Amino acid sequence: MSDKRLIVALDYSDIKDVKALISNLNPNRCMVKVGLQLYLSQRLSILDLLSNAGFDIFLDLKLHDIPNTVSKALSEIEKFNVFMTTIHLQGGKEMIEAALSSVKSTKIIGVTLLTSLNESNIQSLYASAFSDQFSRLISLANDTKIDGLVCSANELNQLHEYQGLKVVPGIRNKILNDDQKRTMTSMEAYNLGADYIVVGRPITQSENIEEAIKEYESK
Ligand code: C5P
Repeated sequence: MSDKRLIVALDYSDIKDVKALISNLNPNRCMVKVGLQLYLSQRLSILDLLSNAGFDIFLDLKLHDIPNTVSKALSEIEKFNVFMTTIHLQGGKEMIEAALSSVKSTKIIGVTLLTSLNESNIQSLYASAFSDQFSRLISLANDTKIDGLVCSANELNQLHEYQGLKVVPGIRNKILNDDQKRTMTSMEAYNLGADYIVVGRPITQSENIEEAIKEYESK
């Protein structure tokens, strides 16, 4: 595990916004997350820019395709300085194994069930309870020895035995009245076993970024 446990989500399209934010971030104290929005707007150049600025990168593209396609995509990702990247565990055992065998240094993190899916969505998709479907994905993560998982803070309680990395978004130390519904504070998430927390707006929209970073860092 890296000692930088705070991952700042760079959810922007405009490179000027990215540059303004990272000028306030210390690459020795946090990692940065590049999601689909920033990746599609800036393409691969964003990875070189962040890497040259000294940041460890979490590239969150949530790959979900047949094993060969995911494997080829990861071989491309591995040419860049990406610390960890995401695939969907629902791609299945062969896809996860193909993903793991196509990288040497980049860590592969499996997305469990999207937090946008509720109990009734899971029931109609899989004719299964949320917790059963979640448990099956955790077994898959254990069997394949994938490097880690993305999960919501609410699921950390079910993952005490899980040995891989736990990456947790949906963190709020203050109520922001935004779209995140099931949130937890950074302290609670670290105490419940999160290895990394992903924080976007509480830092990117803060008036004092230095203070906000201090607030969300692992103490
Ligand atoms: O601004 P905020 O702190 O809500 O940003 C959280 C980041 O984590 C966003 O980039 C969002 O896409 C991501 N994320 C999430 N919930 C998930 C998975 C990812 O909020 N279940």
